[in-house]
Amino acid sequence: MDLKAEIRRLAKEKNAVIMAHYYVDGEVQDIADFIGDSLALAQQAAKTDADIIVLCGVHFMGETAAILCPDKKVLVPDAAATCSLAESCPADEFAQFVKEHPGYTVISYVNTTAATKAVTDVVVTSSNARQIVESFPEDTPIIFGPDQNLGGYINAITGRQMLLWNGACHVHARFSVEKILALKAEYPDAKVLVHPECKGPVVKLADKVGSTAALLKYAIADEAQVFIVATESGILHEMQKKAPQKTFIPAPPDEAMVETPEGKSSCACNECEYMKMVTLEKLYRCLRDEQPVVTVDPEIAAKAIKPIERMLELSK
Ligand code: 13P
Ligand code: SF4
Repeated sequence: MDLKAEIRRLAKEKNAVIMAHYYVDGEVQDIADFIGDSLALAQQAAKTDADIIVLCGVHFMGETAAILCPDKKVLVPDAAATCSLAESCPADEFAQFVKEHPGYTVISYVNTTAATKAVTDVVVTSSNARQIVESFPEDTPIIFGPDQNLGGYINAITGRQMLLWNGACHVHARFSVEKILALKAEYPDAKVLVHPECKGPVVKLADKVGSTAALLKYAIADEAQVFIVATESGILHEMQKKAPQKTFIPAPPDEAMVETPEGKSSCACNECEYMKMVTLEKLYRCLRDEQPVVTVDPEIAAKAIKPIERMLELSK
């Protein structure tokens, strides 16, 4: 069977829109109607007129779409594709932390479960975090969760002193400073692109810090010909497509921090195993069977939609 043709046929027949994050496999990105960063995926979901949304990404992305589109069927190719950052912030513990700090405005990164968003005042992504934090008066006491690296970066560039939850993404936390420096020595003219989920010492090496979409835009527009890319390596697919004459080198992880079933890994790039759970086969089955469907408890959804809509409003 021609999987790709079948996927497109089913999408047309069912009036389904296929959305994909830049971190999923290139062949899944290529078949999608729309690819984007977390913010763009939420914005696109909010305005689609499709009957079915297939979100090729991790579970919180499907949840965000389901919360924004309660009248549509939202599918994910693999419901077990979670996110270590979202998991690093259990909703009950976060709610307790919020309760212990009355008077604080609660800002949560979009990489959270719906239940965590439900105890949040405004959601942000890496595209709009600075803009949204700065929309509050300077003396506003703010809790920022769950990514301590993104929160620390925003504190550093805005001079704020937000209280940070100590969560992190296991993929972005393990880039190796030494290996990036070694690549810089090998390619002295290369520019270093860094996602703000990376740790401070890696962010310090950056020529450009930004969301996946911002890094992509910079890589296309900048005059440099070689880029060392410190984010999940799936983004290289679109970078290479949009700028085929340029060279993109995935920044390597610290091998000691990459656990595999066989032991330590010596891979040259840094992959999110959750994003890579989304395959063409699973996408095909999900469209064919119209499952797994993403559902959100209506009480939680009613609370979580407010900070998501507030983010969309503040990002216009
Ligand atoms: P952005 O797409 O917002 O840059 O986020 C990266 C990420 O880790 C998504 O899980
Ligand atoms: Fe979550 Fe990190 Fe994977 Fe993004 S790369 S989905 S933050 S685990």
